[in-house]
Formats: sequence, C-alpha cells, structure tokens
Amino acid sequence: MPPTRILADESCIPHFPRGVRLHYDAARKRTVLLAPERLLTPDSEALQILRRCDGRTAIGVIVDELAAGYKAERSIVLVDVLSMLQGLFDKKFLINGRDSDGPTQVPWAPDQAEPVAVSGGDERLPVSLLAELTHRCPLQCPYCSNPLDLMRASDELSTDEWMKVIDQAAAMGVLQIHFSGGEPLVRKDLADLVRCASANGLYTNLITSGVLLDSEKLAALAQAGLDHIQISFQGVEENSADRVAGHRGAHAKKLLAAELVRAFAIPLTVNAVVHRQNLHQLPQLIDMAVELGAARLEVAHVQYLGWALKNRAALIPTADQFEEATRIVEAARDRLKGVLVIDYVIPDYYAIRPKKCMGGWGEQFLNVTPSGRVLPCHAAESIAGLLFDSVREHSLSWIWRDSSAFQKFRGTDWMSEPCKSCAFRESDRGGCRCQAFALTGNAASTDPTCALSPRHAEIVAIADIESKADHRHFSYRTFG
Ligand code: SF4
Ligand code: FES
Repeated sequence: MPPTRILADESCIPHFPRGVRLHYDAARKRTVLLAPERLLTPDSEALQILRRCDGRTAIGVIVDELAAGYKAERSIVLVDVLSMLQGLFDKKFLINGRDSDGPTQVPWAPDQAEPVAVSGGDERLPVSLLAELTHRCPLQCPYCSNPLDLMRASDELSTDEWMKVIDQAAAMGVLQIHFSGGEPLVRKDLADLVRCASANGLYTNLITSGVLLDSEKLAALAQAGLDHIQISFQGVEENSADRVAGHRGAHAKKLLAAELVRAFAIPLTVNAVVHRQNLHQLPQLIDMAVELGAARLEVAHVQYLGWALKNRAALIPTADQFEEATRIVEAARDRLKGVLVIDYVIPDYYAIRPKKCMGGWGEQFLNVTPSGRVLPCHAAESIAGLLFDSVREHSLSWIWRDSSAFQKFRGTDWMSEPCKSCAFRESDRGGCRCQAFALTGNAASTDPTCALSPRHAEIVAIADIESKADHRHFSYRTFG
C-alpha cells in the first residue's frame, strides 16, 4: 500500500513514530521535540497536547481533557488541537494508531513547564554537532563538502578520543549528533560511538553514501540506538549516478541499502544533491524517495565551496533550470503532503538574500574534524588566517566559548558596511563567511550572494556564463 496522508479527526490516536521523540533538554531547562534534522521547542500549551500523544489516547479525549483543564469552550480547543496535530501528521512527526510499545518515555524534569530562551549572551549553547569521523570514502563526488586537503587515517581521533568528545558535547547542551565523513561506515567503531551518544541522550543521525551498509552493520547500529539514517543519491539513472559518484556500482548498492533501512524500520531521509548534470532527473528522484519509503527528501542544490567550487563550471544550473526545479519541488510538496516531506536548499548564486549559514557562526553548531579540530562549520578551514583548536589540547566547551576562531564572527560586531547598518543583519548574520572568503578573499565582507553586496553583480555574471558553458568534466575528490 502506498503511504497516504493522515487526516486528523477526533478518532485518531496520535503517537510518535520511531525517530521522533520528546526530550528533556537539561542544559536549557525545557522540553524539545527531536526529529530527523529538526528540533522544535513547543510552548507549554503545545506540550500539554504532545504529552498526551501516547498511542492510547484519541484526539477527542485529548480535547475533552484540555477543555476541562483550561475551562475553555470545547469547540475552540478542538479547532486548535486538530490544526496543530494536522501540521505534525503532515511533517511526519506523528502517526496514527494504537502504539503497542505504550506511551513515549520522556525523562521529565520535576515541575518543568515553560521553555527558556537559549540565544544571546553567555546562554548561547550548541545544539548540533557534526562528527566527521573520517575523510576516507569509496566515493569521489565532485561537490564533496570535505576540504581539498583530505586527512589520512593515521591522523584520525581514536575511539576513546571520540567518546570523550561525545561526553563533553552532551554535557554542554548538544542535542543532536550527526555521524558523517567521508564515509563514517569505514570506521569499525561506528556502532560503539552511536551507543555512546545514545547513552548520553543525544539524537543520533548517520549521514552515509550507503555503499558499505549491510544487514550486520545495520543490526549493530539499530541495537546501539541509531535514530535516523540519511542516504545520499547522485541521481536515478545508474550510469550517470555512478559517474557523478566516481564509483561503479554505487547506485545499485545505495538502493539495496535503502531497502535494508526500511526492513529495519529505521527512519530514512533521501539526500539528493542536484546540479546541471542531474536536474533533469528531479521528478524521478522524488518518486524514488517515495518508493524507498523515505519520510523525508532533501533536495539540495550544490553549495559552491571546496570541491564544488573547483567543479562549479560543470555543476551550476542555468537560472531557467533552477526555476523549473523550484516549480517541480513546489508541485511535489502539494501532491505529496503528509506522504513525503521535501526540504529544498536553493543555490546561493540565484538568491537575493543570503542564508543564515549554520544558524550563525558559533551560535548553534560545531563540527569536529577527523583529527579533532573544532570548526564553526564544515568549510571553515578554507578561510586563511584562522586558527582552529583541537579537542586533543582543549575541552570542547573552552573551544566553543573562548577560542579565537569561534569568537571571530560570532554575533554582529565584526560586520562592516553594508551589513553593519542593514535591517537584516540579525536574521541572516551577513550570510556565509566561507563563501565571502572564497569569492572576495575577505571573510568579514558581505556574502556576495546578497543583492546589497558590492560584489553581487560579479557572481550573477559568473552563474550566467558558467551555467551556459559546455563543460561536463569533473575534477573528482581524491587524496593528495
Ligand atoms: Fe544580510 Fe548583510 Fe545583505 Fe543586509 S547587507 S541582507 S545583513 S548580507
Ligand atoms: Fe562556513 Fe557558511 S559554510 S560559514
């Protein structure tokens, strides 16, 4: 049976599917909803509803209880509850039906009720950690987010060193950990690291190409408590997908891996990096994600840093292709509402306003490289002149709070014009520091993808010329 949209009514019995859970965030004294690549901070009214989504209680009963508790008109409460739960069904954060496992277990704090603000001043704590376990990978994607100078296996952190990082991250308020690479499955200790993260209460996500996944490894990961898997696809057509990956047979192995993930009932996100040489396959990519049983599809246009910058002329789509892709995604979102959640990352070069990269430099996110250097984003080492401290010499919390690299572009004080006096400076933080450096040579300048940047016209011209060039050759990601 193909999946269908759940329509919320009084008879529905909502509960959280595997990979979605309420979690008490002790560092910030609040309860959050953790889901694949998502963190929601429900207010106290929403929490009253979510706590009752236990796989035993029908929506009608939830409404009765809330109306009595708030001494409110039942019909008004019903409208509010149905509206909120429909949104959560559509995002796949809830499913309908009796849950034989019983109520979702949440480590509640006594008397915990109101969420507290996290951002600002010294209360700023990291939410998410990208653990780049290794740069080793059987694939050679020409848009790989790893640096041009890849790290050798002999430089990698040991199992004990990674476990120390995970313990420290959990203690300082990190809620989600993404195990990535390279290909994290080349590390023989991956399941041990997932177990360590789960034991620390972290939401665990595996970002993999899928080509090394087998049922034995998956069983060990599931047993270790893995919450979610993201498998990358290079297209739907075998030959062209293998050509982009630089690895014959990769696409077929990925399809098998996705089937295995479904068999183990681990929530799956399909990640599809799109560019000029595979965008024509976008409708089929969307269909493939549904067929593979993914709850979520990430359609991500290439971000032109590192290897992708090197291959920009072979990857960047024309403005017309980009607009067509956006139209296809929007139509699919409508058609597949409640069936497949589609996240869409647009190509910066066709934006007018830049994105708030990483949610702000040193504000939510940290990245630990295979050798233990700690970065505010995966590409930060491309910025010349910054010194990145290592977990081999300092604690994670010291690096987060006090190291020069994290302080350098935190907040807005470092800005110059036009960002300095711009109304959008708080909401976008001047865009991406790595992109500003890559395109202007100055990481403190306005990201040129912003239409207000004095360099904006240059990138518009680059996109126009390179996207129309007859350039198909890739410079593949390789060691040395
Ligand atoms: Fe954002 Fe700076 Fe552009 Fe204003 S000028 S929109 S702050 S990048
Ligand atoms: Fe480094 Fe955007 S990728 S700040």
